Amino acid sequence: MNTQNKVALVTGAGVRVGNVIARRLADAGATIAVHYRNSGEGAQAFVAEIIAGGGQADMFQADLANREQAEKLIPAVVEKFGSLDILINNASVFQDRWLEETSNADWDVNLAVNVTAPFLLSRAMAEHLNGKPGKIINLTDWKTTRPKRFAYGVSKAALGGLTRSLAAALAPAVQVNEVALGAILLPVTAAPEEDEMLSQKLASRTPLDRLGTPEEVAEVIMTLIEIDYITGETIYVDGGQRLSRT
Ligand SMILES: NC(=O)c1ccc[n+]([C@@H]2O[C@H](COP(=O)([O-])OP(=O)(O)OC[C@H]3O[C@@H](n4cnc5c(N)ncnc54)[C@H](OP(=O)(O)O)[C@@H]3O)[C@@H](O)[C@H]2O)c1
Repeated sequence: MNTQNKVALVTGAGVRVGNVIARRLADAGATIAVHYRNSGEGAQAFVAEIIAGGGQADMFQADLANREQAEKLIPAVVEKFGSLDILINNASVFQDRWLEETSNADWDVNLAVNVTAPFLLSRAMAEHLNGKPGKIINLTDWKTTRPKRFAYGVSKAALGGLTRSLAAALAPAVQVNEVALGAILLPVTAAPEEDEMLSQKLASRTPLDRLGTPEEVAEVIMTLIEIDYITGETIYVDGGQRLSRT
């Protein structure tokens, strides 16, 4: 798919990895629907920047833990731009908790944001496309190959399963793929003074000896959008972390 003049919705695009992916799509000529929950300031500045550069964009707020709000997102984007060709399910809950620390509420929010929302958005997009070409990319985590964080890990593994089921259900018109990240950006909860130490620790566990960059993630996503003969696939952007013995 050529991204020029296509409409792309990137969830969680006000800041961090989602913002870089959306920026890359905007640079490639796509109209950008910038979804956000709390990062309204980042989303607003980003939309203004795209428009100032001659592109098209708008911002859409939704708490994806809320089913009603999630269900309104695709209709809102289609109403604004008239179509939707590319969906990047990037927004995510991240909780570093194992089984004994996981409450029912933790479980519910991880499943709601990381699995149910991508399902609702993908289904609504497919209904809108009605057999026309489309692309869906789901952002997951290499750690699903080695469970560590309980509800988060289960939810990302389920998102991988959703990727393959959607790929089968929506073929041949829509290609659906999973991009499983390694250490790209440190969690926002990390104390700044510990960032350097944590970066070094993560790099030392990564065969390619460094953290990845959001720009590298965005390039892989662009490739999956441009090539139409890959579906139901998982691409690891993890510097080989899943091969590490530590
Ligand atoms: N960063 C990494 O190194 C890394 C590693 C492995 C996997 N990943 C995956 O790659 C993707 C991007 O990573 P990231 O670190 O940039 O993600 P992140 O900062 O943890 O989260 C991205 C965005 O998700 C949105 N979000 C969270 N809860 C939401 C809710 N209830 N409703 C709507 N939006 C919600 C937030 O938007 P607002 O700020 O607008 O509230 C947040 O900015 C994620 O899917 C993540 O799991 C990242």
